[in-house]
Amino acid sequence: MAKVVVTGAAGFMGSWLVDSLINEGHTVYGVDDLSGGYTRNINPQSKFFKIDLRNKTATKDLIEEISPEILYHLAADATEGRSQFTPINCTERGIVAYLNVLIPSIKKGVKRVVLTSSMSVYGSQNTPFDESMETKPDDVYGVNKASMEEITKILADVYRFEYVIFRPHNVYGERQNLADPYRNVIGIWINALLRDKPIYIYGDGEQQRAFSYIHDAIVCISKAGFEKKCCNEIINIGGKEPITLNEMAKIIMQEFGKTVKVIYLAPRPKEVKYAYSTYKKSEELLDYKEKFSLIENIKRMIIWAKELGPQNPSYLENLELETEQVPKTWKEKLI
Ligand SMILES: NC(=O)c1ccc[n+]([C@@H]2O[C@H](COP(=O)([O-])OP(=O)(O)OC[C@H]3O[C@@H](n4cnc5c(N)ncnc54)[C@H](O)[C@@H]3O)[C@@H](O)[C@H]2O)c1
Repeated sequence: MAKVVVTGAAGFMGSWLVDSLINEGHTVYGVDDLSGGYTRNINPQSKFFKIDLRNKTATKDLIEEISPEILYHLAADATEGRSQFTPINCTERGIVAYLNVLIPSIKKGVKRVVLTSSMSVYGSQNTPFDESMETKPDDVYGVNKASMEEITKILADVYRFEYVIFRPHNVYGERQNLADPYRNVIGIWINALLRDKPIYIYGDGEQQRAFSYIHDAIVCISKAGFEKKCCNEIINIGGKEPITLNEMAKIIMQEFGKTVKVIYLAPRPKEVKYAYSTYKKSEELLDYKEKFSLIENIKRMIIWAKELGPQNPSYLENLELETEQVPKTWKEKLI
């Protein structure tokens, strides 16, 4: 059994990953600064450290003490659509935080690094995005993820550690942060229904996404720390079937049992219209499977959200670029 560090351990994906690794019998050290995660998500059987990975010294001290065999890096400011307005925050919590945890891990002889990148690295190339395509990000978040991928490959080559890079897309499910008004369309809409608020759609709603259920993705991400077949591979992970946002809004209202007003707004800057990926590699290397249908998964998420109750959206006090391009929903706190 391995000594494993998971960053972003109090977050949505990180917390499910910790649960999975604990179930497999590993010793798991979770790290999170609780900027986007919650203590309620922390697995009590893990050893949890509240540390901001932007703090180089604190991160180095912790990693030196743990000396992890496997590092799963998930911590991030994952707000892709907001990254044009908060590029410093995105980069400090992106590339910088990653280097702060990666360098001491390398020094202590980490065997494998599992990096959670993103589909955003493909930008607006033709869909479906395939792992063999070059990276061409369209936004600051995607640039961070693409750089983190390249840094990983370079350092792995020089310092001889193994890596697996995941490119997830539009993950949803229980424990998603419903209070985040900047990202996770399904979570935002379910929270709107809980609060009897309208649903806002940027653009005409005909943009396509393949939504990925958390438990399907986590099975693969968890395995990736140990599976030989996926060593030094880049793997798309998540939903197979793209649907439009208009279709998704209908499904959510139907399964929630409530209809609210749908309001269309101007598209957000740099938002890609068609974004979904191939999934063959995840099937071949990690046996990716979709256990239940989209509707069943949405039902489960709604049951969880109704139990949790409505969440007050948590806005940043200031964006780094308070310009006229800031979407109205954020400027006027409409969500
Ligand atoms: N959810 C998705 O649809 C999706 C899609 C593609 C990629 N990803 C990537 O997967 C990872 C997990 O995403 P998520 O949806 O679970 O997001 P999340 O916000 O729920 O989790 C990220 C966690 O990182 C923590 N964090 C942020 N900055 C930190 C710092 N400086 N120090 C310590 N902890 C810090 C936050 O508190 C949060 O708990 C991210 O790297 C994200 O970019 C997510």
